[in-house]
Amino acid sequence: MTNWQELERKYFMQTFSRVPVTLVKGQGARIWDEDGREYLDFVAGWAVDTLGHCHPVVAEALAEQARTLIQTSNQFYTIPQLRLAELLVQNSCLDRVFFCNSGAEANEGAVKLARRYGKLKLNGAYEVITAMGSFHGRTLAMVAASGQSKFQQPYLPLPVGFVNVEYNSIEAIKTATTKQTCAVMLEPIQGEGGVNLPDDDYLPAVRAWCDQNGILLILDEIQTGLGRLGTLFAYEQSGIEPDIMALAKGLGSGVPIGAILTKEGASVFAAGEHGSTFGGNPLACAAGYATLKFTLDNDIAGNAKRVGKYFIAGLEGLKQKFQFVTDVRGCGLLVAMEFSRDIAQLVLMACLDRGLLVNRLKPNALRFMPPLIIGNAEVDEAIGILDKALSSIR
Ligand SMILES: Cc1ncc(COP(=O)(O)O)c(C=O)c1O
Repeated sequence: MTNWQELERKYFMQTFSRVPVTLVKGQGARIWDEDGREYLDFVAGWAVDTLGHCHPVVAEALAEQARTLIQTSNQFYTIPQLRLAELLVQNSCLDRVFFCNSGAEANEGAVKLARRYGKLKLNGAYEVITAMGSFHGRTLAMVAASGQSKFQQPYLPLPVGFVNVEYNSIEAIKTATTKQTCAVMLEPIQGEGGVNLPDDDYLPAVRAWCDQNGILLILDEIQTGLGRLGTLFAYEQSGIEPDIMALAKGLGSGVPIGAILTKEGASVFAAGEHGSTFGGNPLACAAGYATLKFTLDNDIAGNAKRVGKYFIAGLEGLKQKFQFVTDVRGCGLLVAMEFSRDIAQLVLMACLDRGLLVNRLKPNALRFMPPLIIGNAEVDEAIGILDKALSSIR
């Protein structure tokens, strides 16, 4: 039998700390390894598989589109991207869409759009204020945008034009704002940085500050969007609207796709000023349309809200039981559990042994981001496994 993990060590750049399991098949919230072992998947491709693995509407849309037209170029009109763009605009506060292929690329485009706006409307302002602890992607500019030194240090010097300020502090944003500022870019809840929730008045205060200064508010909803927090987009919960929003992850329920959405007033790209070979590709957009349509028609966001509440209550129960669980936090189905010691890897492995996949967020914290189609039964199962896994920790 092929030793796939050995092949990875031999041929792959060693950038990922992988869990020693080779996954070969998925269905709904379940996934199977090469030995046929079944797992309940609370990682979901890092908050990607919105509708679970290989959802029939997505698989069918892909198969149908694959038989019809896979790729042409943006030199021509294609129907799947226009259908998806229309559905996104009809169901968000934004007016126009640009498609790309990943989260980092969506954020890059969002920043380029803000810089273009700065050049045209703000006397050449180009700086973007971002938050410490944020994560916006792995391109050089997005490493500069992400306020985490572990991602920045290996690549110094970084592209200019980003100011990282304290998260959840409107004062920090005010202090950092200068004549060179064209935008503030934030995740509504910081995902990779720790599932960090801001105070309720933070985003409204940032919105007001941006309005007062004529600068743009970019929301990176790559992890929070498409229902994960219990509403289609996270901004709905803070009663504000962004000028620009970046999407990716859950939009294609597993198929790579990203999108920049913008208000009409910030839609300043002229022909040729931005582009992509694969962005808006018919195959990816067919998956995106199927995912979004099913999400809307079946109130998947509402399900994430209800099941997320039930899940957090279950995790709170475990917190009561195990003293070393120090915090449970999250919203919808983006949830973290923090420990008093660096035992996240041990708990992850103990869950894996018992058939549950979870994500190590930090040495002392786990993150849970299951498919949004799960119900209370899957939550009960996950809580049962976590209970046993936590009991095994000495
Ligand atoms: C909020 C946020 N922005 C951007 C990214 C980068 O997305 P991608 O890995 O698709 O480039 C991520 C990925 O985790 C993310 O969580």
